[in-house]
Amino acid sequence: MITIPLIKPYITSEVKRKVCEVLDSGYLTEGPVTHEFEGQFRAYIGCKHAIAVTSCTTGLELALRAVGIGSGDEVIIPDFTYPATADAAGIVGAKIVIVDVTKDTMLIDYAGLQKAITKKTKAIIPVALFGNPLDYRFLNYIKQKYKVKIIEDAACAIGAEYNGVKVGNLVDISVFSLHPRKFITTGEGGIITTNSPWVANWINRYKHFGMELSTARERASFVSLGTNCKLSDVLSAIGVVQMRHIEELITERRQLAMNYTGLLAGVKNITLPRVTRMGVHSFQSFCVFVDKPCDVIKKMRMRGIEVQIGTYALHMHKAFKRTTSCAIIGRMRASTYAYRHCLVLPLYHGMKIDDQKKVVRCLERDIEGGEND
Ligand SMILES: Cc1ncc(COP(=O)(O)O)c(C=O)c1O
Repeated sequence: MITIPLIKPYITSEVKRKVCEVLDSGYLTEGPVTHEFEGQFRAYIGCKHAIAVTSCTTGLELALRAVGIGSGDEVIIPDFTYPATADAAGIVGAKIVIVDVTKDTMLIDYAGLQKAITKKTKAIIPVALFGNPLDYRFLNYIKQKYKVKIIEDAACAIGAEYNGVKVGNLVDISVFSLHPRKFITTGEGGIITTNSPWVANWINRYKHFGMELSTARERASFVSLGTNCKLSDVLSAIGVVQMRHIEELITERRQLAMNYTGLLAGVKNITLPRVTRMGVHSFQSFCVFVDKPCDVIKKMRMRGIEVQIGTYALHMHKAFKRTTSCAIIGRMRASTYAYRHCLVLPLYHGMKIDDQKKVVRCLERDIEGGEND
């Protein structure tokens, strides 16, 4: 039986009350509660627009469509990420161009990224993986120099900062996930942030069937094709309550991460990834590098502790083999290393220091092939 899970969603009696309020109201689609959630997100990030959608994956797709990316365009993506990052580019018809990551941060390799730029490159989707912020100074230099759009996959990065500015306010468009592995979670969902009113209007209209929103309350006017990826008020109710507690949640995560760092200091055969310079990590996930993480996962599970691999190396998957619509630039050594060695440790609201000590004690034994307790 799992006694120390990887994550625990923040579901309190306050959350349940708010969800029941929405259910009792009878208004279940996107409405005032989703708009309140968007407002909280906007205020927290400090950006001009926050748009709730059904997932981060959909959000990335909408972001690409909003800036006109499609067939004939190339979009650069890091190899070590959840496939959704690349799916979004492929789905809009663009060519997926995969580059390696940097070994110690697992973030996109900036030199490799620059080398992969061609005349057809229209966008880059770097990933602030696990909540480690990117090098936004470099990304904005690339944006200016090559006239490309930077659409950040910030699925894991709510609360992360760079040079005193919150992630979500640093590139053209950022997209966050509200999946249950993220600590602000509505079950499923995503949020797009941008400072461009044009992009925000486009996405808002597109996600409402192409409807001119100013006419929604009178006779609706549909001015373009669109889709439906609205986030329901029922789900947003969970997010609204979590956002009220975001400062305490993020402070706690950073404290838990510091505890792990202290406990792991001096433990043999474990190294920690590097945090981006001038960045503040949100510790969506706390990762370590170990040998044979799959063996460790099995052994730790037997001890009731849930640990998990980091994420995926896209080039190892059939969907992302080299074709005319997918290029893999380089040998993906660092991404392969990350895939083979990265392990995510349990981290959740309310985690006790004794549980963290137990995780580290078991990890220490299991990486050395030690005996069961
Ligand atoms: C880096 C990254 N991008 C995209 C996604 C997809 O997010 P969603 O499930 O909200 O579509 C995830 C999900 O875990 C992720 O980790």
